[in-house]
Amino acid sequence: MNQLLEKILALKEKLKESTLIVAHFYQKDEVYALADFTGDSLELAKKSYNSPHKNIVFCGVGFMGQSVKILSPEKRVYMPKVACCAMARMIDDISFDKSIKYLNDYGIKNEDILPVAYINCSAEVKAKVGQMDGFICTSANAGEIMNEAIKKNKKIFFIPDKCLGQNIANKMGKTSCIINDGVNPKDVDIICYDGFCSVHQLFSLDDIEFYKEKYPDILIISHPECDPKVVNNSDFVGSTSQMIKYIKTIDKNQKIAVATEFNLVNRMRKENTYVLSSSKPECPTMNETTLQDVYDILNTIDKKEDSIREIFLDEDIIKYANKALSKML
Ligand code: 13P
Ligand code: SF4
Repeated sequence: MNQLLEKILALKEKLKESTLIVAHFYQKDEVYALADFTGDSLELAKKSYNSPHKNIVFCGVGFMGQSVKILSPEKRVYMPKVACCAMARMIDDISFDKSIKYLNDYGIKNEDILPVAYINCSAEVKAKVGQMDGFICTSANAGEIMNEAIKKNKKIFFIPDKCLGQNIANKMGKTSCIINDGVNPKDVDIICYDGFCSVHQLFSLDDIEFYKEKYPDILIISHPECDPKVVNNSDFVGSTSQMIKYIKTIDKNQKIAVATEFNLVNRMRKENTYVLSSSKPECPTMNETTLQDVYDILNTIDKKEDSIREIFLDEDIIKYANKALSKML
């Protein structure tokens, strides 16, 4: 065992009563391997929130750590690397307000708009959603949450992922459009913001056709952040956890092509499992966290030093973001 790993394991043991290390499935193998708990974004939020530990070391991206802080402000949440989800950065509180104004200009009043936010957005944006009595969802529960939202009989404004928004709309038989694309938002059920995940944009219908030609019986499995054309031609669509569970039920000889982040696909099953892309779909920011980062943050906690990697949020932001997020749990 290398020296760094030995030092991490010793610190982990020393801090085990106070500190929980959680890691998202997209983390590098060596970071993933040393976490106390791994999961999709919903499972990680729940586990961290329900754990008795005072400190959470969150190996993932910023919105995930922020979600824990919003749900449990009394906990100290640390990111070993200050890494941000690129999609979450595509919307901020200003562009949120501008989008609402855009809908107002079409004659849709604020009281008739219900924002539904994918958890991949900042705490500030979640607070905006909470102020408008909106909902938060993850890829694991987006359908269920949207079912609840639809019951409110309002115009749904889905942020920030246009692909997830369109995919749920298609699944539910609802109409959708992308904000600013020339369609009158009054004419559709769900208006999607224009955000996307550049990693999941790497998968295309051409890739599916390529694999189907090579292996006619291959199963296509995709994450709902993929383009609707990919999702519509997939045999199974689900969150990272749901894909892992589904693949475990499939015969070992069945060929599968998976459309999600490389670290996860590579870990799922080595034989008969292919990445549905000719280029390597790595999430750059998820890949930034290293063993050294984990060691450094554990050391900071052990020495009770301040860290720029600890998450702090404004009280008002926590209050309104919590209103939307705790409804989901
Ligand atoms: P999951 O909620 O499925 O883990 O997805 C999070 C994410 O960022 C996918 O790109
Ligand atoms: Fe964000 Fe995409 Fe990375 Fe997921 S894979 S964390 S959505 S940039």
